[in-house]
Amino acid sequence: MTTKIITISNQKGGVGKTTTAVNLAHALTLRRNQKVLLIDLDPQGQCATQLGMDSQMGAYYFLTTLPASTNEITFIRQWIRGTGRDFLQLIPGNSMTSAAQMMLGVQEQSISYIRELLKTFAKDHLDYIIFDTSPSVGGLQERAIWAADLVIIPTATEFASLDSLSKTVTTIQALRDNKNWKGGLMGVLPTFFDTTRESRDSLQDLQTTFGDLVLSPIHRATVLRECWSEGKTIFEYAPNSRAAQEYQQLSEIVFKY
Ligand SMILES: Nc1ncnc2c1ncn2[C@@H]1O[C@H](COP(=O)(O)OP(=O)(O)OP(=O)(O)O)[C@@H](O)[C@H]1O
Ligand SMILES: [Mg+2]
Repeated sequence: MTTKIITISNQKGGVGKTTTAVNLAHALTLRRNQKVLLIDLDPQGQCATQLGMDSQMGAYYFLTTLPASTNEITFIRQWIRGTGRDFLQLIPGNSMTSAAQMMLGVQEQSISYIRELLKTFAKDHLDYIIFDTSPSVGGLQERAIWAADLVIIPTATEFASLDSLSKTVTTIQALRDNKNWKGGLMGVLPTFFDTTRESRDSLQDLQTTFGDLVLSPIHRATVLRECWSEGKTIFEYAPNSRAAQEYQQLSEIVFKY
C-alpha cells in the first residue's frame, strides 16, 4: 500500500491544528491499526507535548538532511520517536525548526522539497504521514501542502476566522494552478463549535461557501484542553467523550477517502 500524506494547515493560530493532527493520528492507529508517522513542522513543538513527550530538534534534521544516501537516511531515521502507542510514531519539532525554515529560504529550495524528503520513509510501510504546521505562511507551509495528497483546514467557527481561511484556501488554489500540485483539499474542519449564534452562523457561512467540503464540526470541549496538559490524546483521557467520537468519525472519513 502506498503512504497517504495529510497536511493540517491554517495560517490562523489557535484553530485546532495540533489537536486535530494528534488526535486524528491516534484515531487512525486505534480503530484501523494504521501505521502513522506524525511530523511536527511547527517551531512550537506542541505535537510532542500533547503526546506527553519532549519537543526535540527532529524536524530540523528532517528538513535539513537530504536523503541522498543510506547514511543520511539512517541519520534522519534516528529522529523518529516511538510514542509509547502502537503504530504511532513522531518526528518532534522545536524552535530549531525556524532555523531550518530560514536555511531553506536562503537555499531557495523547490516547491517539491518536502515531498522529496519523504523518500526517507519509503521502506517503512507507513499508511499515513501527517504534517502539523505552524500558523503562518511561508516556505514550510507551502511545501508541506505541496507534499500532501490531502489537506485538512481546521477553522474555528467564529467570524474572525473566516478571513484567514479564505487566504489559506487561496494559497492552496495557487499551488494547484501555478505549481502543478496534484493533491486536493479534503475539507474544512469546523472547530470550537458551540451553541452561540456566532458559531452557528459562521458554520452556515462555511457551508454556503464550501458546500460538501465542510466536514462534521468538532464541538468546543474542555476535555480537549485538559488532555493536553496531561500529555494524553482524547482517546486516552476521555475515550467516551463526544470529542473522542468526533475525532473518531473524522478518522473514518480519512480512512475511507
Ligand atoms: N474543540 C476544542 N474545544 C476546546 N478547546 C480546544 C478545541 N480544540 C483545541 N482546543 C484547545 O485550544 C487551544 C489551541 O488548539 P491547538 O493548539 O490545537 O490549535 P493550533 O491551530 O494548533 O494552534 P497554533 O496555531 O498555535 O499551532 C489548545 O489549548 C487546545 O487544547
Ligand atoms: Mg499548533
